[in-house]
Amino acid sequence: MKLHAMEFIPFGKTHTLQKTPIILVLLGTFALLLLTIIPLCYPLLGYPLYQNFSKSPPSSLLGSKKCDIFSGEWVPNPEAPYYTNTTCWAIHEHQNCMKYGRPDTEFMKWRWKPDECELPVFDPAEFLEIVRGKSMAFVGDSVGRNQMQSLICLLSRVEYPIDVSYTPDEQFKRWRYPSYNFTMATFWSPYLVKEEEADANGPTHTGLFNLYLDQFNEEWTTQIEEFNYLIINTGHWFFRPCIYYENHQIVGCRYCLRDNVTDLPMSYGYRKAFRTAFRAINSLENFKGITFLRTFAPSHYENGEWDQGGDCLRTRPFRTNETKLEGINLELYVTQLEEFKIAEMEGKKRGLKFRLLDTTQAMLLRPDGHPSRYGHWPHENVTLHNDCVHWCLPGPIDTWSDFLLEMLKMEGGGHDESSYQEKLHSSDWKMKLR
Ligand SMILES: *[C@@H]1O[C@H](CO)[C@@H](O)[C@H](O)[C@H]1NC(C)=O
Ligand SMILES: *[C@@H]1O[C@H](CO)[C@@H](O)[C@H](O)[C@H]1NC(C)=O
Ligand SMILES: *[C@@H]1O[C@H](CO)[C@@H](O)[C@H](O)[C@H]1NC(C)=O
Ligand SMILES: *[C@@H]1O[C@H](CO)[C@@H](O)[C@H](O)[C@H]1NC(C)=O
Ligand SMILES: *[C@@H]1O[C@H](CO)[C@@H](O)[C@H](O)[C@H]1NC(C)=O
Repeated sequence: MKLHAMEFIPFGKTHTLQKTPIILVLLGTFALLLLTIIPLCYPLLGYPLYQNFSKSPPSSLLGSKKCDIFSGEWVPNPEAPYYTNTTCWAIHEHQNCMKYGRPDTEFMKWRWKPDECELPVFDPAEFLEIVRGKSMAFVGDSVGRNQMQSLICLLSRVEYPIDVSYTPDEQFKRWRYPSYNFTMATFWSPYLVKEEEADANGPTHTGLFNLYLDQFNEEWTTQIEEFNYLIINTGHWFFRPCIYYENHQIVGCRYCLRDNVTDLPMSYGYRKAFRTAFRAINSLENFKGITFLRTFAPSHYENGEWDQGGDCLRTRPFRTNETKLEGINLELYVTQLEEFKIAEMEGKKRGLKFRLLDTTQAMLLRPDGHPSRYGHWPHENVTLHNDCVHWCLPGPIDTWSDFLLEMLKMEGGGHDESSYQEKLHSSDWKMKLR
């Protein structure tokens, strides 16, 4: 499969920020702002989503206890993996870590254990029965495609899909499972909103993008009405230099290094992009599907930036007490949750469901799951940096299908909305952030 050349360069040079005094000031101000905002945000964040539901009686679906399936630890699973690069053809070249000589295999042999319940390992036959006659769209960046390819591989024990793509463009694929009349599609939209590359090079040689923060990206917004499930994500591309447009005017930028354009935080663009994407979904007349926000999956560069020899060499997951969500990862996570909450309330008015596929904490704990240098041959062009953003297949991203199936099972259970949310997130879910 062809690869979008840019996707190996997930980040702008964040470190160069510190060399510019003005930006340093901005950064400082911003950090202060963040420190002030965050303690205020936690209670606010939790409130409308979950507290509303705290009085509803627990449903019997998962036993009588409420359980946050996204809060837990990785535990050994000697049975894994459930496919290999010889049984599944859908593994993207650059995530086929075994092919490129990754020596260790332990990283495949873990499953997610929520603190207060069990998360069953993915059952492909059960999944395909649930989605029979339905359709699912992945909208976002290459990590979304990574997730879809993982799902194809997990399902391959039952059936392979046929390619029913409308275009030869690899970024817009459509797959159909004939025996189940189930269709999956991916829509490439790394910023979720309308975007164009203003300069292929830009201040950090990672491109400079014009983001039209209030304009729909019609490449997907015009295509998704028919889908039953939408899985939406974005994140890593916001690290690159961008110019933010609103109402056709430049309102600021992120690290564009132009004297007359104000530098704004990354989360400014991130927030507006989600707001616009969710507004698009909520404005579609015929859309009746469920929207899953797959939350940000942090990268794991250590000992340097992505382009300064940074790498991800660990071979075991972290335990919860060994790391925590902080800095820009926390900021992006909180930002997307705030926008999700607004969209969910908007959607409710017209009967649209929004769900949180809250993978952030689980993936924060998996520094061992990335391709690192095993996404290509050693002699290939050195501009292919160590990849600590995407996930080896098989690998920890397979767990996203465990989460997804569990969530789909709850949709079909005939229980009310409130018990659904309560099951997924116990009221103390905010603790994870600390
Ligand atoms: C699968 O991985 C093995 C190493 O485990 C490698 O030798 C082989 O070339 C890979 N095959 C494919 C089809 O990627
Ligand atoms: C397949 O599912 C679609 C809905 O996704 C439906 O419109 C169509 O009639 C189904 N086809 C068959 C053969 O069941
Ligand atoms: C900033 O300056 C450049 C030229 O130096 C000009 O082309 C551009 O229109 C200016 N942008 C704004 C927002 O004033
Ligand atoms: C984390 O918890 C485990 C098990 O409870 C314990 O063995 C380990 O020492 C703890 N590690 C740290 C860094 O606190
Ligand atoms: C390596 O990549 C650079 C930048 O993309 C390109 O200019 C160069 O031609 C490539 N070299 C080889 C040997 O492919």
